[in-house]
Amino acid sequence: MAQLSGTPDVPDLGRRQFMNLLTFGAVTGTALGALYPIVKYFIPPSSGGAGGGVTAKDALGNDIVVKDFLASHKTGERVLAQGLKGDPTYIVIENSGEIADYGLNAICTHLGCVVPWNASENKFICPCHGSQYNSQGKVVRGPAPLSLALAHASVTENDKISFTPWTETDFRTGDDPWWA
Ligand code: FES
Repeated sequence: MAQLSGTPDVPDLGRRQFMNLLTFGAVTGTALGALYPIVKYFIPPSSGGAGGGVTAKDALGNDIVVKDFLASHKTGERVLAQGLKGDPTYIVIENSGEIADYGLNAICTHLGCVVPWNASENKFICPCHGSQYNSQGKVVRGPAPLSLALAHASVTENDKISFTPWTETDFRTGDDPWWA
C-alpha cells in the first residue's frame, strides 16, 4: 500500500522541481535584468575613464550644476551629493565661495552611519555614537577610528562637479589613504 500511494508522487515531484527551477530562472533573470542598468551605470563607459570618475548628482539623481549650486548654498556649507560608487559625499564650499578640490565621503568610519554636517559646531557629528570630525572630515573624537574618506572634486568644462578616487597621501594626516 505504501508503494501504491507513493507512486503517483514521483512524476509530481519531478514536475514541481522543474517548475521551481523555471521560477528560479525567471526570478533570477528578472533580477539580473533589473540590476543591469545599475551595474552598467557604475562601470566607466570606456577604459579611458581616468580612474573611474563620476559626476556629482543631487538627491533626485540630476547632475549638479555649479552655478545653480553656488547660488542656492552659502559659503562654508557642506552639501551632500551622490559620489563615487553612489556613496553620499559632501561637496565642500570653501569660505572663499569656491568648491573645494576635495569631497568627503559621509559614511562614518565607526559603523557606517551617514554623518550630518553641524554648521554651528563647524563639525560633522555622528548621531549614532557621537563620533566627531572637523570641517575637513578629520576625526577629532571617537569611537570612529579613522577620518572620513576623501575624493578629488573638480569643476568640469560644462560646469559640473567630477569626483575621482583619492589615492594620494591624506593631506589631513600625512598618512596613506586607508580607503584606497
Ligand atoms: Fe558613527 Fe558609530 S556609526 S559613531
